[in-house]
Amino acid sequence: MSRTADQAARCRRIVHKALALVRPVFALELDGIHGVPHWSRVCRHGRFLAGELGLDPALTTWFAFLHDSRRRDDGHDPGHGRRGADFALRLWRAGSIEELDRRGFELLAEAIRWHSGGRTEGEPALLACWDADRLDLARLGIRPDPRKLATAPARRPEVIEAVVLRARRARDRQRHSARWW
Ligand SMILES: [Fe+2]
Repeated sequence: MSRTADQAARCRRIVHKALALVRPVFALELDGIHGVPHWSRVCRHGRFLAGELGLDPALTTWFAFLHDSRRRDDGHDPGHGRRGADFALRLWRAGSIEELDRRGFELLAEAIRWHSGGRTEGEPALLACWDADRLDLARLGIRPDPRKLATAPARRPEVIEAVVLRARRARDRQRHSARWW
């Protein structure tokens, strides 16, 4: 198996495991603005950024599925980063996040804890996680601002254009299916 195929299979296993762990405890709509479709896109962005920056995609994949897992509100919810990091720590102690070593887990917990703070400085792994989330602002009709993105690949005009286009197509598909319902 090639390295890319091997990494893809590893990430798929994490996705299945993370969904099984998060779904039962998630307090909001699973298909809402901070639910599974959002986690899946953050996962996709994170894997892209990890590839570009030479990082472990296992970390960005765990981030994608845990960072909003303990939200209690789709609007203002200032404690959700801390609650998400506490949840990740419980999973780590239970042996569920076995793909990361101790340092990898520390970075994951830090990325989750501070993901909504707007920070643009820190370890590359943190920045990749935060940009993966910020690129999905496009789902809310907000064009990601390159000045608020922390990594060079995320700031590329063609990358921003691609996430905006994808979000627009998803909204159009939703509108279309609503008309036919
Ligand atoms: Fe998010």
